[in-house]
Amino acid sequence: GAPVEVNIGKVEPGQMLRVEWRGKPVWVVRRTPAVLQQLSELDDQLRDPKSLEPQQPTYAANPTRSIKDEFFIAVGLCTHLGCSPTYLPDSFQEKVEGVPSGFFCPCHGSKFDMAGRVFAGVPAPLNLVVPPHQYTSDSTVVIG
Ligand code: FES
Repeated sequence: GAPVEVNIGKVEPGQMLRVEWRGKPVWVVRRTPAVLQQLSELDDQLRDPKSLEPQQPTYAANPTRSIKDEFFIAVGLCTHLGCSPTYLPDSFQEKVEGVPSGFFCPCHGSKFDMAGRVFAGVPAPLNLVVPPHQYTSDSTVVIG
């Protein structure tokens, strides 16, 4: 499939853009400073907090699983059986106490943080996939 160019210049903090790449949903989420700060506090609740499994390009095998901290880019498919998780920007604490935002899979209840890292104790075995991507300008990212 061809690479997909995404204009991220107008994405507000907290907002998610959805695009399609190779027939799959891809999310681009702009993370707030508060969200970024909390990522470092969740490690002991996660199955693969350090992204040791190859679910991302090597340039995204870092604490925010991204090239630019502010933007999280992921394939929007649950690593259990492939449902598309729901982005809960404000109500994720109903799923994980003390964590305001994240992604919740409605099919069997898997939970992912704002870097797409899977919480322990849910059916999904792996973190969400980060697709290959690169920034070609301040406002443009190319997926694929
Ligand atoms: Fe997401 Fe089963 S497909 S929890």
